[in-house]
Amino acid sequence: MTYDNLLVDYSPGLAIVTINRPKALNALNQQTLIELESAFCSLAEAPDVQVVIITGSGEKAFVAGADIAAMQPLNALEARQFAKLGHQVMHKIEGCPKPVIAAVNGFALGGGCELALGCDIRIASENARFGQPEVNLGVIPGFGGTQRLARLVGKGRAMELIMTGTMIDADEAYRIGLANRVVAAEQLLETAKKLAETIISKGPYAVKLAKQAVHNGLELDLDRANQYEAELFGLCFATKDQKEGMQAFLDKRPAQFEGE
Ligand code: CAA
Repeated sequence: MTYDNLLVDYSPGLAIVTINRPKALNALNQQTLIELESAFCSLAEAPDVQVVIITGSGEKAFVAGADIAAMQPLNALEARQFAKLGHQVMHKIEGCPKPVIAAVNGFALGGGCELALGCDIRIASENARFGQPEVNLGVIPGFGGTQRLARLVGKGRAMELIMTGTMIDADEAYRIGLANRVVAAEQLLETAKKLAETIISKGPYAVKLAKQAVHNGLELDLDRANQYEAELFGLCFATKDQKEGMQAFLDKRPAQFEGE
């Protein structure tokens, strides 16, 4: 499938989704959001894709936010619909049965920071800048930032970022746990691909269940979350990959996972 505002490239086990509106620093308008949702519907089902990387085109921005020009004339009901579309897309990415890595190659502001927050892992280039600058525009984050940022970096830090609209650099994002690691700009995609390769070499079914356990379990109390984990742990033992993974360890040889 081809898109107007996205590029999707494939290599073995991997899909790289590039948000491609460089003239607007890859800002998310309605069409881009719809395309993202459609791309993730396909990628979730694609048997040859085990990991997805999201990045932005150009050297300046991952995504500089929701599209301000498109939002400016909206009325309250239209703005609520737009926020719901954004939520739907972030939810789709977060719930994708495959790991999603954000390769943050520049500004990740507003909806761009929220897109990165919807991913499982965030790798930042040294020139990455993160922030929720919505208060500068007289609005609040609308694609889940008030919730996911607070859950990831803690309430106090999220409050400060959201209430001041301050932009932080990659090192600060790493320090507060918003970025998993920081690398030189020219190493960004390579680092994300290497990380993807490491994940691809593991049992795909186990990786899928691990994501599900962490993601869904975090919203439960500890007892229920551990019960949920035990159910998924048990489910692993219904797979050929579990038998192969453990037998390979006992045989002192690398495992050959089939994703079954
Ligand atoms: N929406 C629409 N267009 C945008 C955009 C955005 N979020 N961010 C940048 N652009 C456009 C600019 O309007 C400009 O277009 P023109 O060349 O046609 O004038 C082009 O991208 C380049 O931007 P700048 O000239 O501003 O580049 P800069 O290097 O001087 O500044 C920047 C870069 C600091 C990222 C600045 O562009 C900026 O502050 N952008 C807005 C960031 C922002 O406020 N994001 C939050 C949006 S609200 C939101 O996301 C709500 C939500 O949660 C759903």
